[in-house]
Amino acid sequence: MRLPGQAHRHPDDIVIGPVDLSARVDEALAVQALAFGLGADEVAVRRQIVLRHLTHPGARALGATVPGGDLVGFVYGMPNDRTHWWSTVVEPYLRARGHESWLDDSFVITELHVHPRYQNHGIGRTLITAITDGAAEPRSILSAIDIESPARGLYRSLGYEDLARQVLFPSAPMPYAVMGAPLPLRRR
Ligand SMILES: CC(C)(COP(=O)(O)OP(=O)(O)OC[C@H]1O[C@@H](n2cnc3c(N)ncnc32)[C@H](O)[C@@H]1OP(=O)(O)O)[C@@H](O)C(=O)NCCC(=O)NCCS
Repeated sequence: MRLPGQAHRHPDDIVIGPVDLSARVDEALAVQALAFGLGADEVAVRRQIVLRHLTHPGARALGATVPGGDLVGFVYGMPNDRTHWWSTVVEPYLRARGHESWLDDSFVITELHVHPRYQNHGIGRTLITAITDGAAEPRSILSAIDIESPARGLYRSLGYEDLARQVLFPSAPMPYAVMGAPLPLRRR
């Protein structure tokens, strides 16, 4: 069994392991901007949000780095806290579906992004599996844009199921789905 925090080596010499994401926030946001399509204004807003998130108790991050040291993917998350903004937005949707208890004892995946040039090589799968393997909580929750995307396909294959659909975050143009999975995540 892999120990939490132990580095994973990918076939193309990509190393996946803990990173100081506050120190590398600009690199991470450059990856997210390409993967997710963020403009400069959104990057500036996200920068403050990410730095604040990383101060929350239990927040952890893993990165995927190439031999030269460049970051090509990252994931971060934290134990859910019902007072956090994300949790307060999704709570009424989960309550309406009888899934509110998923907000307790749950590890939230806040962001997961892989540089487009490095997608579809198993990096995203390794990042999310490794970070949740290091969680003390028995389950994990996240939100993803409510369309049939590679992200949704990946999450389903890891055991995440829809807990709520068409969830509207203030200022987000697209509705999201909230998904939850028991930990450890399903292996292939
Ligand atoms: C989601 C994301 C992180 C996945 O990273 P990745 O390294 O490409 O993912 P992996 O190679 O580990 O896994 C790919 C999996 O995605 C799924 N997938 C890939 N392309 C897909 C597609 N066109 N349709 C459905 N599922 C697809 C499959 O489940 C695939 O699993 P497989 O290995 O069994 O084929 C990456 O696509 C990404 O950064 N997307 C843009 C940003 C984003 O949407 N982030 C998530 C926000 S919620």
